[in-house]
Amino acid sequence: MRYDYHELGLVNTAQMFENAYRYGYAVPALNFVSIEQLNAIVDAVIEKKSPVILLVSPNLHRQIGHEMTARLAQVATDRIRSAGLSIPAALHLDHGMTFEQVEMAVEGGFSSVMIDGSKLPFEENIALTRKVAEYAHARKVTVEAELGILKGKEEQGTEGTCESMYTDPEMAVDFIERSGCDSLAISIGTCHGLVKMKPNPDGTLPELRFDILSRIQERKPGFPIVLHGCSNIPKEYVDMINRHGGHIERTVGIPDEQVRKAAKMAVCKVNIATDGWICALANTRRILDENPDAIDSRVFSLKIRPILKELYEHKIDIMGSAGRA
Ligand code: 13P
Repeated sequence: MRYDYHELGLVNTAQMFENAYRYGYAVPALNFVSIEQLNAIVDAVIEKKSPVILLVSPNLHRQIGHEMTARLAQVATDRIRSAGLSIPAALHLDHGMTFEQVEMAVEGGFSSVMIDGSKLPFEENIALTRKVAEYAHARKVTVEAELGILKGKEEQGTEGTCESMYTDPEMAVDFIERSGCDSLAISIGTCHGLVKMKPNPDGTLPELRFDILSRIQERKPGFPIVLHGCSNIPKEYVDMINRHGGHIERTVGIPDEQVRKAAKMAVCKVNIATDGWICALANTRRILDENPDAIDSRVFSLKIRPILKELYEHKIDIMGSAGRA
């Protein structure tokens, strides 16, 4: 079955980003892999009256299918409407790698898509993005592209170190002008997954490359920039996972102040996935340890929803999007 995103109560990101740029905040792009996460995201945006982008990876889309993805998004927008609010919500395909993946998402009711040609040679990235933009724009779907490589792991980020191939600002300007994308994900030192910042020898944390962001902003004022890999990796969750039978390395994520600073600049969308996963997982492990005789997953699923809600509210506060719906 095909879906038109308007009928699912969704919007694309055009107006969202125009407002975010004008008023100096970023729209939270929050990944979900479970019903509890989606419910908690909706709870948080209702509480905070924040616009939201629901971030779905091609893996999740494949795993739960067209129908379920579209219906979940529709339930989210129905919940917002029945709370008497008109909060803009977009359903966004994260890291679409091929034209076919994008096509499948658009037919399945996504209102926004990412085409990630960042590993391709520059001209091939432009050509793929143009093709996607022509197709998507004819259906009023907005398109995010990527230039510069964020290393790290998208789905399971426990290995490796983070090394970015920073975006070249001049190439970014050329890319924006020729590719037809509506927003651009750039690499300024953030990184997908658990392993992110490497502390300086004196223990302080390095700054993201705000100079790159400023140069693009100067050359293309008004153009929305996207930051991936912005989870903070709170110590509290890592310690909780390790205390309750897990074994993951202690790492350092992106400090809240740096995300806040980027959101006030040209960054209009900030992606968060790992923090939601580790928060849910840490608390699931803790609750299962505390309830060794549990036989029903609701023993943890009901309890983690308010904990996740608090996390997402905090993200909304950092990005400055509360009250912007
Ligand atoms: P984190 O791994 O930092 O949450 O970033 C997620 C992301 O950018 C998904 O595209």
